Amino acid sequence: MNPEIVANSNPLQATHIPEHFLSRVDEQEQLHQAFPTETDATPRNLYIHGPRGTGKTHLVKSVLSNLPKRVQTCYISCIEADTQYKVLQQFYRSLTGENIENGHHTSDLQRAITDRLGAVPTILILDEVDLLLHGDDENLLYYLSRLDPEKQLSIVLVSGTNTTLSDLVESRTYSSLQPREIQFESYSNKQIYDIIAQRASQSLKPRSLHNNAASYIASSTRNTELALTWLRTAVKQAEDAVTESHVHQVTKDARHAYISRRLDRLTEHHKHLYTAIDELAAEAGPVIQTGSIYDRYETITGENSTEPLSNRRISDYLKQLEKLNVVEAEYHYGGEKGKTREVRPLGLE
Ligand SMILES: Nc1ncnc2c1ncn2[C@@H]1O[C@H](COP(=O)(O)OP(=O)(O)OP(=O)(O)O)[C@@H](O)[C@H]1O
Ligand SMILES: [Mg+2]
Repeated sequence: MNPEIVANSNPLQATHIPEHFLSRVDEQEQLHQAFPTETDATPRNLYIHGPRGTGKTHLVKSVLSNLPKRVQTCYISCIEADTQYKVLQQFYRSLTGENIENGHHTSDLQRAITDRLGAVPTILILDEVDLLLHGDDENLLYYLSRLDPEKQLSIVLVSGTNTTLSDLVESRTYSSLQPREIQFESYSNKQIYDIIAQRASQSLKPRSLHNNAASYIASSTRNTELALTWLRTAVKQAEDAVTESHVHQVTKDARHAYISRRLDRLTEHHKHLYTAIDELAAEAGPVIQTGSIYDRYETITGENSTEPLSNRRISDYLKQLEKLNVVEAEYHYGGEKGKTREVRPLGLE
């Protein structure tokens, strides 16, 4: 990054965990109270949810990193660990430092984990948990929630939806989890502005970011990740200061950088599917009918010498892209075809 403008590039990085979270005092306090730090404290389960880019992941990570060393923590993103088996494998590895291969019975893995719990308080975080809650995978939550309180396990579920947990899981799972719910509200434009200004003051030299530039970003999105990605993209390309017109010019690049970061954690097929949607939107206007997507996806896999997945799998992947805020979908009910769906790539508005 340009040393004329940047004094310290760390706070600009996407993985940076802020020392001070603006406008999140209550949420931070609730997290502190919920985590068991004493060996005899009763473990609490939590369900944290709210729109994209409201600070859920980073605030949880920040609170975890300040807990006493005795407390074991295990953070799992269900974007990568998207089945019960993968979550159990990762949890076991985190508890023991040992790998467990594929091919075991799920119940054996569960037993091995149960045996390893109890000596110290343990917090398991399942981020993006709504990507896991289909098919048999909900049994994972049922198993975890039924563990003896002596195992001192707290389960923290994080989701980028507005849905309460009782709408996401079966009632037997919900009633044994009994989670405390913390809802993260969207930030206002003013709060987004303050977060951008705070990050700029930590990383840029004085007067390197024009007020209008920060206001422009803050008035265009309420998603902090998008806002900070936009700032980072503009900083990379600015020569002596980031101006409003500068921010304007990098709008597309910023959107692209935000989406690439999200797609990075998914499979090749998700990427091909996204390329199909992006291409169709560029050719035929932003809104596309889902019917044309699979054909284009098939063509792209052919060009990449990859076997296409079935229409059904791709339809599931499309739902995942939607949940991850990479595409937006609109549903239409009624009419000749019954329920239809229109899709478009994420915009910045
Ligand atoms: N209150 C805040 N103060 C400072 N920085 C913040 C604040 N809230 C969010 N951020 C920053 O915004 C970015 C996005 O936050 P985070 O990834 O935690 O959001 P999220 O709610 O988990 O989003 P998603 O639902 O898309 O996963 C991070 O870089 C984080 O450091
Ligand atoms: Mg998150």
